Amino acid sequence: MKKYLKSIIAIAAISVMTLSLAACGSNKTTEENNNTTTTEGENTTGGEKETLVVATNAEFPPYEYYEGQDIVGIDVEIMKAIGEKLGMEVTIEDMAFDSIIPAIQSGKADIGAAGMTVTEDRLANVDFTDTYCHASQAIIVNAANEEIKTAADLEGKTIGVQLGTTGDMYAGDVTENVERYNKGFEAAMAVAQGKIDAVVIDDQVAKSLAEGNADLKVLEEPFTEEDYAIAVSKDNTELTEKINAALVELKEDGTIQSIIDKYITE
Ligand code: ARG
Repeated sequence: MKKYLKSIIAIAAISVMTLSLAACGSNKTTEENNNTTTTEGENTTGGEKETLVVATNAEFPPYEYYEGQDIVGIDVEIMKAIGEKLGMEVTIEDMAFDSIIPAIQSGKADIGAAGMTVTEDRLANVDFTDTYCHASQAIIVNAANEEIKTAADLEGKTIGVQLGTTGDMYAGDVTENVERYNKGFEAAMAVAQGKIDAVVIDDQVAKSLAEGNADLKVLEEPFTEEDYAIAVSKDNTELTEKINAALVELKEDGTIQSIIDKYITE
């Protein structure tokens, strides 16, 4: 299990050195979003537009979540911006997080955008684009918990995670008692109800889950650092290259940062 941690940290370190990443934090208020699940890209050919099927797991605010019937969030808007650059129509497919990579491998989806961390394990099954966001794993505990103050205090504790996430891998490094949930929200509720000791989940999602719930608090010290990228089939390097080119433009013209700023307030 420890090997996961090392490889993830190594990958994160390389990414930090070689790429200027949007730190997912900023200072604007969340605006109203009116996104539909399908969006029109620029049509350069005049014919029928190609569809870019994006697999996600819309249980992950502020990156992807439901607002009424619509899936909105940072990843959704970045995907729409990429679709526009590529002249493709973007369709978002919501599924279990651990179904995303299999969906890409089987061709059910073209890409996966789900706050997905680049890990060595995943690189064996899919390619990743350049990273677009830096994140960390945070620890949520019950507001009344005075015992768990840092990651070191998690040793042997009962930790809730979302199934198949990096939080799932990290928790396994420090305890045998990992409770796996389909949704991060369910894990957070279990902490609030005192059923488990802590949740390990991505920092912005942790904040979002703890917001407005007086029974939860997020520890200041992050567990680990990581970087998000878009997963693409190993058979579609052309698409990976196109998305990377679009990402360069969207980083340079400030689109990515302004999308992040729209959803994340610090
Ligand atoms: N960053 C973590 C990972 O890659 C969690 C991602 C969960 N994403 C989601 N949309 N539920 O494993």
